[in-house]
Amino acid sequence: MSEVAKLKCGDQELELPIITGTENEKGIDIGKLRSTTGMVTLDQGYVNTGSTTSAVTFLNGEEGVLRYRGYPIEQLAENCDFIEVAYLLVYGELPNEKELVTFRESISSHTMLHEDLKSFYDGFPRDAHPMAILSSVVGALSTFYQDSLNPHDPDQVEVSIHRLIAKLPTIASYAYKKSLGQPFTYPDNSKSYCDNFLQMMFSTPCAEYTSDPVFISALNMLLIVHADHEQNCSTSTVRMVGSADSNLFASISSGICALWGPLHGGANEAVVQMLNQIKADGGDVDKYVKMAKDKEDGFRLMGFGHRVYKNFDPRATIIKKACDRLLEKLDIDDPLFEIAQKLEKVALEDEYFVDRKLYPNVDFYSGVIYRAMGIPVEMFTVLFAIGRLPGWIAHWKEMQNSPSSRICRPRQVYTGPLNREFVTLDKR
Ligand code: CMC
Repeated sequence: MSEVAKLKCGDQELELPIITGTENEKGIDIGKLRSTTGMVTLDQGYVNTGSTTSAVTFLNGEEGVLRYRGYPIEQLAENCDFIEVAYLLVYGELPNEKELVTFRESISSHTMLHEDLKSFYDGFPRDAHPMAILSSVVGALSTFYQDSLNPHDPDQVEVSIHRLIAKLPTIASYAYKKSLGQPFTYPDNSKSYCDNFLQMMFSTPCAEYTSDPVFISALNMLLIVHADHEQNCSTSTVRMVGSADSNLFASISSGICALWGPLHGGANEAVVQMLNQIKADGGDVDKYVKMAKDKEDGFRLMGFGHRVYKNFDPRATIIKKACDRLLEKLDIDDPLFEIAQKLEKVALEDEYFVDRKLYPNVDFYSGVIYRAMGIPVEMFTVLFAIGRLPGWIAHWKEMQNSPSSRICRPRQVYTGPLNREFVTLDKR
């Protein structure tokens, strides 16, 4: 007999089925709760709520485990490039050689933007945040590809997926070029995904540019470790918007907006701003640790803490090692890296952080690598978005293909005024 949980509400006793996942995770299915008892559950911030079953990513925050489609993140980061991991996430299996070649070719063939899309960039102010541009232009793709917006047509979905993965780096690099006032660099389809992105970011018509292979491989690693993270804020946003049968471009555009926030993907930008602030303030790390502990202050150590990881963030471990290697290889002496190391040491030994299990997260060291690569701080979250795209797509697809998927529509417990008579304007 399958397991059940018993719930007593007043004199009613309800048996709730327990759903067990492949990693033996358990969830109480409350699907019949409201129809039986008239009550809903209340879980602000969804701390205890499983919104779906999912076969994309497994995460065990207590043990610091992260696996995409069953493969440990450490092995993927070590052995794959980003496009291979994107294929794994979107289609569920690692590609064989033929599948990978075909996928790469298809992605390469879709990298250009429609020329009319370029005129959108003329309308944005020079100092527009690139995440705003990214979400706007991704949303605008739905106006250029009206022939492939039907979420229930697998061929239309397939071409939209390839277009999105191919075009996001182009959209992102144009946003950067716009901020500099430099001409856009067209994609070069003979180059790999990451090499092409670096070219579009840093080449100009008046000087030779060759991407440093060290940067290409660091970028591949960073995109891979950001590629999915199960039901996080932006992924849940993509699923929620998609649950209304909104098209893929619209759903991903909303995910980009969710990722922008400093408590989510925007933290990588906020970390570097914080490290700069500490440096400008004389490098007094203890002062900032003290501020972070002071509840009156409202200051938080950016890049520390995670809703799910309560041991360590395996992504941070991979990035920290890569960061050490990169700075040593390039012989870069980055004062921010030194401050970051000091901060990590102090915070990890401090009772406040130890008690609350606040460890450096994925965003803590990624910014230092991006800086070493010459990527400006405003573009950090954009890179997170490029990395997270295959994860968003995988979840959107999983939701669309699930026979049990329904529009996401949470309930609430109303706490506002009771019924009252309307008061006309002259009497208010
Ligand atoms: N600095 C100081 N105190 C903190 C921090 C921090 N970075 N993070 C959490 N706390 C404290 C918090 O004040 C609370 O203390 P108390 O129990 O005394 O009230 C306790 O730790 C639990 O925090 P919470 O806010 O209830 O935890 P949460 O799960 O709601 O929030 C978080 C998770 C990531 C939003 C939060 O830790 C945070 O704001 N971190 C800084 C921003 C950041 O680095 N975000 C990137 C997350 S990783 C990238 C991604 O996947 O999006």
